[in-house]
Amino acid sequence: MSSANQPVLQGQRALVTGANSGIGAAVAKALAAAGARVTVNYSSSDERARSVVKQIEADGGEALAIRANVSRENEVEAMFAQIVETWGSLDILVNNAGLQKDAPLVEMTLADWQIVLDVNLTGQFLCSRAAAREFLQRGLIPNLSRAVGKIICMSSVHDVIPWAGHANYAASKGGVSLLMKTMAQELAPQGIRVNAISPGAIKTPINTAAWKTPAAEAELLKLIPYRRVGEPEDIGRAAVWLASDASDYITGATLYVDGGMTLYPGFDQGG
Ligand code: BGC
Repeated sequence: MSSANQPVLQGQRALVTGANSGIGAAVAKALAAAGARVTVNYSSSDERARSVVKQIEADGGEALAIRANVSRENEVEAMFAQIVETWGSLDILVNNAGLQKDAPLVEMTLADWQIVLDVNLTGQFLCSRAAAREFLQRGLIPNLSRAVGKIICMSSVHDVIPWAGHANYAASKGGVSLLMKTMAQELAPQGIRVNAISPGAIKTPINTAAWKTPAAEAELLKLIPYRRVGEPEDIGRAAVWLASDASDYITGATLYVDGGMTLYPGFDQGG
């Protein structure tokens, strides 16, 4: 446990998958600002991953970029081996890597279905399994954290909101929700906390079309009771809290960081 004058994640080692852009990059920077050494995982664009590492270092933090496709078992295993070799172990996993391949159901190819399930769901399984194995063989470090390890699964409001034209994505996030809860139930007796963050509309490259013009943003805001589109830093702050001892009694929970998108905004007048 960190003392009052120390950053809350001082000395802890974190892995953020898909950390070269968007929500992942913001989470990596927020964890580093809270004192963690952060592995910035990416599957393409070395340049953007290096730039996230540089920004963390410029702010006085420590970071390492590792390329691995989270849906490939051998690449995930090699990444964990490199993390353990570099920093001795891992304390925090943020399963963030994810993508969209949108299409109406009748036009969706099997390839577009499969890649979304592979990265968004199987990737979370493979990384969580590797992290849990490392947490368990390492055991509790009482002066670092009250938990043996923490896993945060990046889900989406679409783990509860159906989304026409995105059957693969919604199915993957619905899967993440029960994967997270099942892992939480299974690993709690061993001191591992597993939770999810479900972001709503956050300004990132995945959904630029939904907010880049004033007209698009106005349409989007109708779905957000709090009347602002989220920023990646909104998710970074939530991740720091879920990774820290401040949330120590919380496991199996999903934190909706969505400005109220899951509150059925269409019912604010009618019903
Ligand atoms: C999707 C975004 C979308 C948001 C709200 C996210 O999970 O990746 O494209 O804007 O949900 O609908």
